[in-house]
Amino acid sequence: MRSSLFHLVSLSPQHERVRHLHLQVVSEPEFRIALQTPINMRSCAHTGNRVFAVRAGLVKLSSLMGAFNRTFDALALAAIAVLVALAAARASEESVDQATKTALSLDAQLKHGRALFIAQCASCHGRTGYGDSSRSIPALAGQRFAYIVRQLANFSGDERENDTMHHVVARPNMRAAQSWADVAAYVSRMPMNPAAETGDGTFLSLGRGIFHEQCASCHQPDAGGDQDGLVPALKGQHYSYLLGQLRQLAAYRRHNVDEELLRFIQSLDEKEKQGVADYLSRQHEPGKNHQVLRQNGTLVD
Ligand code: HEC
Ligand code: HEC
Repeated sequence: MRSSLFHLVSLSPQHERVRHLHLQVVSEPEFRIALQTPINMRSCAHTGNRVFAVRAGLVKLSSLMGAFNRTFDALALAAIAVLVALAAARASEESVDQATKTALSLDAQLKHGRALFIAQCASCHGRTGYGDSSRSIPALAGQRFAYIVRQLANFSGDERENDTMHHVVARPNMRAAQSWADVAAYVSRMPMNPAAETGDGTFLSLGRGIFHEQCASCHQPDAGGDQDGLVPALKGQHYSYLLGQLRQLAAYRRHNVDEELLRFIQSLDEKEKQGVADYLSRQHEPGKNHQVLRQNGTLVD
């Protein structure tokens, strides 16, 4: 029996301690049976090793050795290792979902949201919420309220990777669910960026076709996102940010993400990603349901 060294890696930065496990390597179909959960087989770009990504990349098992050997013990051990890691990942997802629900159930205070935005967010995302493409900072203006809340919860629970935003949500006045609701309510009502950075137009018609065939069912034909708010608007957003997120999503760097979304995005090649990001970056009418915001943070219907 050959023994292979596996690295069991939780992709969440919080649990970055890598545990080394000695396991027999088993073949992919056997894993599938043992775990009764879909496993995406991918090659690790870094090492060229086989990577098992379970449930949308929350956990990956990567083999350091190429040889595959089938034994029942190995299967059992590997399954246990994966299940332990999955349980931790699921607990984290659940607490983020709970935090999102709590924040969404609160009465958002727009004035407080405005004050928070100016003090905590404007230095990067801009006073107008238009973002800054040269610093890879997304536009937030006009983004869906519930989606913003959910992303703040995701950053806070390490379900989405980004050191900069991890620091922001760790600030004392940004930890409370009330702050997320307030600031999200404010930015969601800001008028969208009318002139986001665009791509160079090379794959634009390819991108338009893909968006309307594959993405509009969720993101809506006008790219304004879902009414219920958990699907983001993709318009009014910078090309390089959109392209960057398509790559991040495809590489499992955003956890707590629908598997169906991942399947769509992973099916796109580089040209298609560029095309769809370019097409979206040129869509920028404000959403129909957005009220007008006065300078003092109050609303006009
Ligand atoms: C120091 C710079 C910085 C500050 C301050 C900052 N952000 Fe961010 N923010 C970023 C960057 C960079 C990203 C892109 C993260 C990524 O690439 O995943 C981001 C991403 C986000 C996203 C995700 C957007 C999307 O479309 O998914 C939200 C929501 C967000 N920030 C909200 C806020 C709020 C609210 C504040 C203030 C409380 C804030 N940010 C303060 C730099 C900053
Ligand atoms: C099954 C519904 C669904 C489909 C189909 C779908 N998306 Fe999404 N998309 C979502 C949801 C939900 C999110 C938010 C994920 C999260 O909470 O982090 C999202 C997030 C995104 C983001 C990140 C936005 C940001 O501000 O960071 C991009 C970019 C994106 N989708 C592009 C696409 C493209 C391009 C397609 C088509 C190839 C597509 N989506 C198809 C539901 C979908």
